[in-house]
Amino acid sequence: MTKPKLLVIQALDLDFMQQLEQYFELIRHDKSDAPGKLIAEHGDDIVVAITHSGIGFKSDWLVHLPNLKLIANNGVGLDAVDVQACAEHGVQVTNTPEVLDDDVADLAIGLLISAFRNIHGGHEFVKKGLWPKQRFPLTRSLKNKTLGIVGLGRIGLAIAQRAEAFGMKIAYHNRRRRDDVDYRYVRDLVELAKDSDALMLSCPGGPETTEIINREVLEALGPNGWVVNIARGSVIDEDALFYALNNNQIAGAALDVYWHEPNIDERYLTNPKVLLSPHHASATRETRYAMADLVFQNLLNFARSEPLITPVAPDEA
Ligand code: 8YV
Repeated sequence: MTKPKLLVIQALDLDFMQQLEQYFELIRHDKSDAPGKLIAEHGDDIVVAITHSGIGFKSDWLVHLPNLKLIANNGVGLDAVDVQACAEHGVQVTNTPEVLDDDVADLAIGLLISAFRNIHGGHEFVKKGLWPKQRFPLTRSLKNKTLGIVGLGRIGLAIAQRAEAFGMKIAYHNRRRRDDVDYRYVRDLVELAKDSDALMLSCPGGPETTEIINREVLEALGPNGWVVNIARGSVIDEDALFYALNNNQIAGAALDVYWHEPNIDERYLTNPKVLLSPHHASATRETRYAMADLVFQNLLNFARSEPLITPVAPDEA
């Protein structure tokens, strides 16, 4: 029996790829020097595609893949996949919710702690041999400070719970107020920034959140305020960020995500007020395995005509 064709835009770990070969014929777009030719040759027969949140899926491919039924996205964020357009072409999308919440929240808190306690600065100070010669400047406590969370979804909530354990007060901005939490809801982002010692960005990327962290919000955060971003680079207006950093309107920015990854704006490389991480919030062995496994299980269920485990509803993306 011929196997259905699976377009590999981004591969999973080797073990999973070997297992997938039992069910699908793999069309390796990720390894092809002539992807256009590959699609022209196999496009009509491709039924499934795997990609990841960074690459996503270009909607104009849909016309070249008339029999595509499923895009399995390795990642929770779907800002690079137009789920609505896919639904209109009869294509379902799956993602990897929940399994990454804790590790992403841990890195968010790690960045926040280092932002306030300057762990990264202390490390440089000791390594450079400055300790015997100078005093390392005092830092700031997290306790009793307000963390303004932008996007109180599953990841935002995991961050809030951790921040509470450090004695922080939580306020949040969300598409809608949540009635299952007691945290203070602030409808207006500028107001939230004014009330916050740090703004934690954990909202989805995409048109609704593009550059919502703009000049006005950053100015409202104030000269002691930090921005921590584990959401998407697109959420911050980078020109406004550099303006705020260079004019002491905010204390600093601790970032895991950027507009242009991995070739980030060069201004980051020389700015002393930024703490940079290479989009690594979900990147532990355990979580990346769990994410890949969830992608795999979705594909397996598809191959066996069983219900998908984590399908995304078009209005949810
Ligand atoms: C991954 C992410 O880095 O899940 C997401 O949306 O941004 C991250 O967990 C990304 O999916 C790359 O695999």
